[in-house]
Amino acid sequence: MRAAYHHKAVLGAVVGLLLAFFLASSLAAGQAPQQGAPNNPEPPPAPVQPIPFNHKAHMAAGLTCDSCHTNANNAVLMTFPTAAGCMKCHATLAANTSPIQKLKQYYDSKKPIPWLRVYKVLPGTGFSHHTHLTAGMQCITCHGQVSDMTAMREVKSTTSMGGCIDCHRLHKAPTTCVTCHKAWGPGMVVAK
Ligand code: HEC
Ligand code: HEC
Ligand code: HEC
Ligand code: HEC
Ligand code: HEC
Repeated sequence: MRAAYHHKAVLGAVVGLLLAFFLASSLAAGQAPQQGAPNNPEPPPAPVQPIPFNHKAHMAAGLTCDSCHTNANNAVLMTFPTAAGCMKCHATLAANTSPIQKLKQYYDSKKPIPWLRVYKVLPGTGFSHHTHLTAGMQCITCHGQVSDMTAMREVKSTTSMGGCIDCHRLHKAPTTCVTCHKAWGPGMVVAK
């Protein structure tokens, strides 16, 4: 009997210590309580973009996200800036560098710049920026510290089902399958 009590006490102490260690280590790492999409444990490398675009340099120049990404008309998308938008500055700024020469070629040809996508949900899964921005979610919660990024990478698990559901539980947002897989409603048309 005494041995059993003893074991319980030891077990209690071990659990307590583990908890204290866990709390201390997460505080030490400066982790705020989970707010949004979890960090991507192994972010894939940044794709090689048609023009090497640097968010950090542009944010340091005093731009804001909505100088280039606008969510007009309650839209699903944030959209990318046009070459004409870039040329407002780069018609003169760094105009002789090779990336800006390439930018000018896209501008002159009137073709959109074929940016490679970094965050992309599986087609058929319903995601709307407008819904989330209206609910008070911020760019940083889902895309990380963009103003420190020299090359855009998928640092957050934003497009995985686990990433969506974690945050929905946290904010008591709906988690039934058809919330996100609308096509699976009555009729069960599987998303392509
Ligand atoms: C950072 C937290 C967060 C992440 C990440 C997130 N959501 Fe949400 N989502 C919310 C919140 C908050 C709402 C608003 C709930 C409300 O207004 O009742 C919402 C609402 C929605 C709605 C509308 C639900 C309804 O019927 O009102 C859909 C659809 C949705 N999210 C899909 C997704 C998908 C798909 C993903 C992942 C690709 C995702 N969400 C990732 C927080 C998040
Ligand atoms: C000067 C224009 C400019 C500004 C300002 C800017 N961006 Fe971007 N953003 C771009 C361009 C161009 C791309 C495409 C190239 C790339 O991925 O780096 C992009 C790509 C992205 C992507 C990747 C989207 C995808 O799925 O491919 C995210 C997320 C993003 N920006 C978020 C932000 C946030 C958040 C801010 C503010 C902190 C911001 N951007 C400010 C021009 C801008
Ligand atoms: C409001 C003005 C402004 C806009 C709009 C703007 N940029 Fe820039 N860009 C800058 C500044 C400032 C720098 C930094 C110059 C430096 O660090 O020497 C820069 C630097 C660059 C460079 C590096 C040039 C070099 O020296 O090699 C590239 C590439 C670039 N921008 C691409 C873009 C693209 C693509 C867009 C549109 C998506 C864009 N910029 C929109 C102001 C702007
Ligand atoms: C709740 C999470 C969430 C928030 C908040 C959020 N995004 Fe996104 N973002 C996503 C997801 C998920 C995708 C992929 C959507 C898809 O593939 O249709 C995405 C894609 C993008 C894209 C590329 C596709 C497009 O919509 O044009 C850009 C650019 C972007 N986000 C910028 C931003 C900016 C800027 C903000 C802040 C104003 C922001 N995002 C806030 C989750 C979020
Ligand atoms: C909050 C949004 C959300 C909810 C709720 C949700 N899913 Fe998903 N689901 C996603 C996203 C986003 C993906 C795409 C993940 C990726 O690309 O890695 C996905 C992918 C899937 C896939 C893989 C599809 C394929 O074609 O590979 C299956 C299966 C799935 N979900 C089943 C379910 C079921 C069953 C439920 C209900 C129990 C559910 N999901 C609820 C967002 C959601």
